[in-house]
Amino acid sequence: MMVLSWGAPYFTNPSLLQQLLTVILTVTLPSESAAQTELRGEIGQNVTISCPVERQNTIKFFYLQKDEVFVNGFYTSRTIPKEKWPNTRVVHGKATVQMLHLKASHDGDYECHIQYNGSENVSSIVIHLSVTAKYSKPNVTMSCDDNICLVTCASHGGYPRAELMWNGVGDGSSPAWKVLNVSEESDPDTMLYNTSSTSSFNCSYGAKRLINCSVGGVASDMLPVCVPKDPPDIYILIVIGICSLLGLIALIPLLLRWKHKKEQTRAGDPKEAIPLN
Ligand SMILES: *[C@@H]1O[C@H](CO)[C@@H](O)[C@H](O)[C@H]1NC(C)=O
Ligand SMILES: *[C@@H]1O[C@H](CO)[C@@H](O)[C@H](O)[C@H]1NC(C)=O
Ligand SMILES: *[C@@H]1O[C@H](CO)[C@@H](O)[C@H](O)[C@H]1NC(C)=O
Ligand SMILES: *[C@@H]1O[C@H](CO)[C@@H](O)[C@H](O)[C@H]1NC(C)=O
Repeated sequence: MMVLSWGAPYFTNPSLLQQLLTVILTVTLPSESAAQTELRGEIGQNVTISCPVERQNTIKFFYLQKDEVFVNGFYTSRTIPKEKWPNTRVVHGKATVQMLHLKASHDGDYECHIQYNGSENVSSIVIHLSVTAKYSKPNVTMSCDDNICLVTCASHGGYPRAELMWNGVGDGSSPAWKVLNVSEESDPDTMLYNTSSTSSFNCSYGAKRLINCSVGGVASDMLPVCVPKDPPDIYILIVIGICSLLGLIALIPLLLRWKHKKEQTRAGDPKEAIPLN
C-alpha cells in the first residue's frame, strides 16, 4: 500500500513520462554530425560519391578527403594547389566526385567538406565506401583412396577476406570429417584473395553425403562423397539379356540357311572342286 501510493503518481504523471521518453530518444537516436552514408562499389568499376548539399545555397568550396589526404574538389574563386587523385573527377560545380577503376585500397571513410557563399561554417559529413570483389565460384575436386576421400575447394579473386565454409558436413564433431588445411593468399598489388581448403572424409563410417563449399556467399556445385560403387543396375542387366536373346533368335534362320547350303554343296556340284587355272 505504501509502495503503490508512492509509485503511482510518478508513472501516471504524463509530463514526467514525456520527459523520460525524451531522454531515451535523445540517447538512442544518433546525432546529425555522426550520421554516415554508406556507399558500395566493386573493384574495377566506377562509383559516384555525392555529398549532400543545401540546394538553396551556392557552394563556395567543396573538397573530398580520405585519411587526411586531399582527393579532389574546387574553390569557386581560385584553384586548389593540391594534387588530385588521377582516377577522380568532380562533376562541374557540384559536390559530386566520380571515382573510376576502383581498387581495394579505395575502401574506407571519405569526408566531404563544403562551405556556402555568405557563410563562415564548413559543413562536414563522412561517407563510407565499401569496395568488394566477387569471389569466383569455388571449384571442388575429389580424390579417393581406400576409404578416405580428400576434397579440395578453391576460389579466387575476392575482396575482402572471407571465410571458406564447408556445407553438408555436419557440425564438425564427427570423426568422419575433418579440415586438413586452409590457405588464404592476398595479392600484394590488387589485395584480392585466393582461398582454398582441403578436408578429408573417412568413408568407413558409411554415411553418403552431398556436400559443397562456399566463399563470400558464392557456392560451389554439390558433390556426392562416400558413395558406394554402384552395383550393376538390375534393369540394365535385364535389357542386355533380352537383347542377347533377340539376337540369338534372329540368328537362327541364318544358321539354318547356312547349314542347308553346306549340305547342298556337299551333295555335289563337281565344278566347284576344280581349281581355277
Ligand atoms: C568507368 O568510367 C569510364 C570513364 O567514364 C568509362 O570509360 C568506363 O566504361 C566506366 N566503367 C564502367 C565499368 O562503367
Ligand atoms: C592441404 O592438404 C592436402 C592433402 O594433404 C595437400 O595435397 C595440399 O597441398 C595442402 N594444401 C595446402 C595449401 O597446404
Ligand atoms: C590467385 O589465383 C589466380 C587464378 O588462379 C592466379 O592467377 C593468381 O596468381 C593467384 N594469386 C595469388 C596471390 O596466389
Ligand atoms: C576411419 O575410420 C575407421 C573407423 O570407422 C578407423 O578404423 C580408421 O583408422 C579411420 N581412418 C583414418 C585414416 O582415420
